Amino acid sequence: MKTYKNVFIFDHPLIKHKISILRDKNTGMKEFRELVEEITTIMTYESMRDVQLVPVEVETPLEKTVQYKVADDSIAIVPILRAGLGMVNGVHKVFPTAKVGHIGMYRDERTLQPQEYYCKLPEGIENKTVFLIDPMLATGGSASDALDALKKRGCKKIKFMAIIAAPKGIETVAENHPDVPVYVSTLDRQLNENGYILPGLGDAGDRLFGTK
Ligand code: PRP
Ligand code: URA
Repeated sequence: MKTYKNVFIFDHPLIKHKISILRDKNTGMKEFRELVEEITTIMTYESMRDVQLVPVEVETPLEKTVQYKVADDSIAIVPILRAGLGMVNGVHKVFPTAKVGHIGMYRDERTLQPQEYYCKLPEGIENKTVFLIDPMLATGGSASDALDALKKRGCKKIKFMAIIAAPKGIETVAENHPDVPVYVSTLDRQLNENGYILPGLGDAGDRLFGTK
C-alpha cells in the first residue's frame, strides 16, 4: 500500500491488546461494546494532539495564572450508523459536551455501494472540529461518502477515526479526501469477496447490538 501523509496508524500496545480480544469470536456483546468504547477513548487522545486551545485565567490557591482549555462547543461527533454509535461514548469520555450528529449509511450487500438514508447534524457544525467515527473502514465507500455529505453541509475541519481498516479503505478515503486526517488503530491484510476485512472482527454492527 502507498503511504499517505494524512493517514495515521496507531501501533499502541494497549490498543493491540484490546483489539486481540475484540477480534475473538467468543467475545460477547457486552465486552465487545466496552472494548470499542475504551479503544475509541485512547484514539481520541492520540488524534487530538493538534486541538486548538484558548487561554483562560485560573486562580489557584496561591495565585492567578493563564492556562489553556479546549474552546467550549468546538467539537462535534458524527457516528456513521449503526456501528459508529458504539464509539460515541468513547469520544464523550474526553469531550463530554460535544454535540452529536448522525449519518445513516448502509452497504448494499450485493454491490457493496454505500447508501445514505439519514443525516441530522448539530446547528453550527460548520464551525466545529468534526469527528467522523466508524469502527470499520473496508472498501472506504461509506466513510468517503459520509465525508462528502459533511463537506456538502459546510464542515471544513473533519477528522475520521476507525478502529480496523483494510488497505483498500485507506486508499479510497486518503485519495478522495487528502485534507482529512485519517486515524486507524490497525491496518488489516485485505478484504474478502464479500467486502469483509480479514482477519477483521466480523460485522461490527451485529456484534455491538447483538443482531445476529
Ligand atoms: C459497516 C461499517 C461501515 C461500513 C464499512 O456498516 O460499520 O459503515 O460497513 O464498509 P465500507 O468501507 O465498505 O463502506 P454496515 O453497512 O454493515 O451497516 P451497519 O453499521 O448498520 O451494520
Ligand atoms: N463492515 C463490518 O462490520 N465488518 C467488515 O469486516 C466490513 C464492513
